[in-house]
Amino acid sequence: MSEPTGALSREHAFELDSTDYYRVELGKHLFYDPILSRDSTISCATCHKQELAFTDGLQKSVGIRNRMVTRNSPTLSNVGNRTMFLLDGVNPSLESQVGVPIQEHNEFDFHVLLVIDRIQNSPKYVAMAEKAYNTSEITEFILKNSIATFERTLISDNSPYDKFLDGNYAALDNRQKKGMELFFETLYCSKCHSGPDFTEDRLTNNGLYTAYADSGRMRLTEAEADRAIFKVPTLRNVAKTAPYMHDGSIATLEEVIKHYESGGHPHPGKGEEIVPFELTAEERQNLIRFLEALTDEDFLTNPAFRVD
Ligand code: HEC
Ligand code: HEC
Repeated sequence: MSEPTGALSREHAFELDSTDYYRVELGKHLFYDPILSRDSTISCATCHKQELAFTDGLQKSVGIRNRMVTRNSPTLSNVGNRTMFLLDGVNPSLESQVGVPIQEHNEFDFHVLLVIDRIQNSPKYVAMAEKAYNTSEITEFILKNSIATFERTLISDNSPYDKFLDGNYAALDNRQKKGMELFFETLYCSKCHSGPDFTEDRLTNNGLYTAYADSGRMRLTEAEADRAIFKVPTLRNVAKTAPYMHDGSIATLEEVIKHYESGGHPHPGKGEEIVPFELTAEERQNLIRFLEALTDEDFLTNPAFRVD
């Protein structure tokens, strides 16, 4: 078998200098602080929980006052490597992404300037900002940059699959290796789920429905060709991020694979790679085992990603 195409480089594992360290600390405390929501009941971590690879396990997320969000919460595994954000990729930066849940009616239902007032009134945060940004005046830049800087530390690169790529061939068992071969060679999965994170921020459609309730990227571009076009999601820690798809409509990895086996529903934007195929029950299990080999236990338990 040839080298899998998803070879992971460790180049992105940056060293933190001391300013970055304080920025990460500030951003991390804000990420876990419910003061970002209007009634101070929920934080970013309500919908992005570390033990679930920063997802929430729900079909669709729930914001303040039990308001239903329209989409499934995505993992933040290696989110600093992404070039576009949100499930339809409409947001260009991690910094600007911070403003979205703050203002969304169904999430924090609040306002960036009111959040800044609250932070400014907290001696703890003012002291942290002095260390991180050398100023006691809290600004929108500080709010967004510190949280984004924390998010860029959410690096997952120590799964059994990564150990295998690093030359530890025993890190994957034989069934996982067979599943890997299916993923990269026999089937077409890596045509879309490619690169170190199994996404290269490609935008496409995987034939979930003929008619979608969610217009996908079209909500930004208003172009019919972008109807129900979504970002190819990363598969890092995918065994921990159920349920699946933009609307959380698929409960298990087994059902995801059966979806692809069926060839999906006809849709004008559907990737042409997606054609029907058949797996034996054993092959399907092997493919699931390979996806499970993308689980990075260190990432799920690293104390650096939470506040005490
Ligand atoms: C009520 C649940 C909820 C809360 C609270 C929440 N998020 Fe999210 N988050 C989501 C959902 C759902 C999406 C996908 C939304 C979409 O595509 O429109 C998302 C998307 C994201 C993304 C984009 C990931 C990607 O791969 O494109 C980032 C980054 C993110 N959230 C960070 C945060 C941060 C930081 C906070 C706090 C400031 C936060 N979230 C608060 C549910 C939530
Ligand atoms: C044409 C490109 C394409 C191909 C080929 C493809 N996928 Fe996907 N995949 C997507 C898109 C787009 C989504 C997200 C769809 C959505 O959110 O509605 C997705 C979602 C997924 C998810 C759910 C991830 C999550 O966090 O919700 C899994 C698991 C998955 N694919 C596995 C596979 C496997 C296994 C194969 C090979 C049998 C495969 N994909 C082939 C484009 C593709």
